[in-house]
Amino acid sequence: MIQRPWKAFQEQWKDRYSAFLNQSKSKSATSEKDVEQNPDYAALKQAYDKTYQDSKAPGEEARKAVDEVTARLLAVQSVFTDRRAYVNALSYEIETSTSPSSKASKQKELADYKKEKATVEFPDGSKKQFDFPQLEETYNEIRDERTKKSLELGDVLKPVTAAKTKLDEYISDHMVDLTPQQIDGLKRKIADWDPKIVQINVADANIVDRCESCHLNTREPLKITPASMTAKGEKKPDEYADAFVSHPEPELLKIHDPEKFGCSPCHQGNGRATTSVEKAHGNYEHWLWPLFPKENAQAGCQNCHASDMVLASGDVQWQTINTERPLPPARLHGLPPL
Ligand code: HEC
Ligand code: HEC
Ligand code: HEC
Repeated sequence: MIQRPWKAFQEQWKDRYSAFLNQSKSKSATSEKDVEQNPDYAALKQAYDKTYQDSKAPGEEARKAVDEVTARLLAVQSVFTDRRAYVNALSYEIETSTSPSSKASKQKELADYKKEKATVEFPDGSKKQFDFPQLEETYNEIRDERTKKSLELGDVLKPVTAAKTKLDEYISDHMVDLTPQQIDGLKRKIADWDPKIVQINVADANIVDRCESCHLNTREPLKITPASMTAKGEKKPDEYADAFVSHPEPELLKIHDPEKFGCSPCHQGNGRATTSVEKAHGNYEHWLWPLFPKENAQAGCQNCHASDMVLASGDVQWQTINTERPLPPARLHGLPPL
């Protein structure tokens, strides 16, 4: 008999998830020490320490360069901001003035004002005079220079940031925010698991979603990454590991309980299909609603929130969907009222 794909997923899941839970430690000071004893952790720590040392001198230099430009920018900005405000006010008066003679005199005033020199005192004590166009140009130049220096600083720090992320991920892949009892409960659940189609059935909405027959960890109460679901001995996460992540937006699933919403209203795909990943994701010619790619998952929000202007989810600002109708204040999570 041919093994059905979803069954293969569940076999893999049982192995990998129980291995993960067996090595998971409940979060506490002593267990953090345990995790840090691990040779894999030591290797990552060593790599981090090295990139940290390597980037220290160039990092300091790059940061100094940013600070130096910032100080110059502020010096110019303090003079420029006042003068620009005056120029804008005059320009507005000219625009709104109805009498031709007062318009003309204001125009002359503006031209004279722009020619007037203003003194900028730079952080190194030097002083320089600029008329308004020169001041504006200088301001823009220094601002661009600052952007460039900030990017350079980012580049210098990139390897350290990456090494630190790996180190932190190692900890989060080996320690979980659960009590030892909760971990044991999950272990028992897996040990007792018999292969079965996992399905959400929302009769009113005609939704039958079997996505969780493969995506078995979507609603597990802890963060599960592809790295932590990678099979023993493998270097890189495979398809299974990618499928066994916990949902990246648990808060969103609290608002939209999958028991009532299913998965496909947000993701599309063919909820009933379990015979292959392609079919389940609706990537075949007889299915009109293929899965949205992950990067484009907000597209699904539109199915229901098409008339909302802005969707806020946690600290993510979802893209503006419709500018015709303002969002009800209750929807503006953590944002100031309109
Ligand atoms: C037969 C097993 C299977 C079923 C059923 C299944 N998936 Fe998947 N899914 C996978 C695998 C494997 C991956 C990772 C590899 C890939 O993207 O193809 C994945 C990846 C995804 C991703 C990430 C895609 C991306 O752009 O990176 C989403 C979202 C997703 N599935 C949603 C769903 C939804 C919603 C359903 C139900 C309508 C569903 N899946 C049903 C196996 C399955
Ligand atoms: C309210 C809408 C919504 C519902 C309901 C929903 N999801 Fe998602 N899901 C999202 C969004 C948005 C993302 C992308 C978030 C991101 O990338 O940060 C996502 C991401 C995913 C991913 C990609 C994970 C990854 O990082 O590779 C998978 C797999 C997934 N969802 C499966 C499911 C399954 C299975 C269900 C049903 C039990 C479901 N989702 C229900 C909105 C939803
Ligand atoms: C199947 C329809 C549906 C889809 C798809 C959907 N939502 Fe919702 N959403 C609702 C409903 C229904 C509510 C709760 C009722 C309400 O507040 O109007 C809600 C509420 C919300 C809220 C909370 C509003 C509040 O007042 O607290 C946010 C935020 C939200 N949705 C964001 C999203 C995002 C982001 C997506 C896409 C990833 C999405 N929704 C996809 C139907 C949907």
